[in-house]
Amino acid sequence: MTFAIQEQQREAERLFSVLHKTNWTKDECDMLSPLTLQIQKLKKEKNAIILSHSYQTPDIMYGIADVVGDSYGLAKEAQRSTADTIVFCSVFFMGETAKLLNPNKTVLVPSRSGCSLAESITADDVKNLKKQYPGRPVVCYVNTSAAVKAESDISCTSGNALRVIESFPDDEIIFIPDMLMGKNLQKLTTKKLILWRGTCIVHEQFTKERVDAIRQQYPGVKILAHTECSAGVVDSVDLAGSTNDMLTFVKQTDATTLMLATECGLTDRVKTEYPEKNIVGVCSLCPYMKSIMLRDVLSALKNPSEEQVVSIPEAIFERARQSLEKMMTL
Ligand code: 13P
Ligand code: SF4
Repeated sequence: MTFAIQEQQREAERLFSVLHKTNWTKDECDMLSPLTLQIQKLKKEKNAIILSHSYQTPDIMYGIADVVGDSYGLAKEAQRSTADTIVFCSVFFMGETAKLLNPNKTVLVPSRSGCSLAESITADDVKNLKKQYPGRPVVCYVNTSAAVKAESDISCTSGNALRVIESFPDDEIIFIPDMLMGKNLQKLTTKKLILWRGTCIVHEQFTKERVDAIRQQYPGVKILAHTECSAGVVDSVDLAGSTNDMLTFVKQTDATTLMLATECGLTDRVKTEYPEKNIVGVCSLCPYMKSIMLRDVLSALKNPSEEQVVSIPEAIFERARQSLEKMMTL
């Protein structure tokens, strides 16, 4: 047996030892191993780091990624890294965020995929809102394009949105683009929030009725939800937070039966990293996050197309960067 075949077999076994937890077969791992090996070699040659959001598929999260995390954690990781190239396996706005924080690094996105929240609002929409409500500060959730960030005073994540809103002395704040998150925040602040009509197509699908039905069916279940879910869901779960908040809860709780009202990638992470936990209910798939395949990562590393290289026009770069930096400082 040649060395190359032995190497592939070892890689297939490594993949199967992790991926079987999310029902991948040994045959699938045999097929994936040449790809993951090529990606790992190219990664070294090009001094690249691969970052993966927790909503990616397990072959990406456990086959090739150096770091798996939430949007804020990955942005910080990109800043800390000494790699020349960052391959960001996630939706496009997260690649833009990494580029804004790392102007001198090459940032690659395997697939230029959108996000229903980021696509719900344009820079012109923000300009119009500012005209309609003059003088009100604009807080934008990170799930927005660099152009929208450039028109906003400050960015925020699901974890720090309330702190960011409260940091302004003003009584009225424009909060964009997530209407459901905005309504959830409105309950926690005395400031009046002026909201936009964006929603996450993944999280808006969960309902209070489904959460209540799961609670009835599984006594003792702990239910976790992303703060992009509706108020009915957020108010009836045991924890509402970012993807990382949910993982931290899973790590710390004694409860063995859990429901995660979020994207299926996070349930895959729990099944893999906490196999003793029993996940009930159904998760929801994000078509944008799931548009990335291993072959896209390989092509980005080998010979990136124009589409795969994140570049941000000079005219908006500095203002968009400042909106993120202000959040980081806060
Ligand atoms: P996190 O910021 O929690 O990673 O969430 C990003 C996202 O797209 C949720 O839908
Ligand atoms: Fe956007 Fe929702 Fe997908 Fe997150 S899960 S990337 S918010 S569409």
